[in-house]
Amino acid sequence: MARDILKTLKSEHDELRKLFKDMEDTTDRAKKTRAELLAEIEAGLIPHAKWEELVLYPAFKARADRDGLKTHAEAVQEHRAVELTVLPDLKTKPTDSVEFAGSAKVLGEFVDHHATEEENTMFKMARKLFSADELAEFDAQYEQWKATPQAAKEMKNALSQPSPVAVGA
Ligand SMILES: [Fe+2]
Ligand SMILES: [Fe+2]
Repeated sequence: MARDILKTLKSEHDELRKLFKDMEDTTDRAKKTRAELLAEIEAGLIPHAKWEELVLYPAFKARADRDGLKTHAEAVQEHRAVELTVLPDLKTKPTDSVEFAGSAKVLGEFVDHHATEEENTMFKMARKLFSADELAEFDAQYEQWKATPQAAKEMKNALSQPSPVAVGA
């Protein structure tokens, strides 16, 4: 089967949905499991979001019509909300608190909402805007990018924000 970036991104969305479901099933006593799940969520979410921001979104924007531009603006704004408030806020909560459970749920709901919109709107538009060859090429580039120092740096920057969660784990 030919490579396809949209299928890769969709399967990463599904992995994240599963991690959030696992998180929701934890109790306030499951300090270590929560810290591990949060680390897995960040390891899945950050490179995914960064690559969308660096490569897919600009390429999409360059070919989009007015509806596409609105979809693009909405997606960018949702990324910003997660990066600037929802995720950093979660990381200030002790993993054994009910506040952590509530914030993790909000992050999961945000991510699910955003991912569903990408799948149902942006990716459907992208399938018309890009050829199968282009989608395969993006997929190969994404795999390579995830193995680069730049991708590792994006992760490290995001993870070096103050995180009592990591300290208390
Ligand atoms: Fe996204
Ligand atoms: Fe995505």
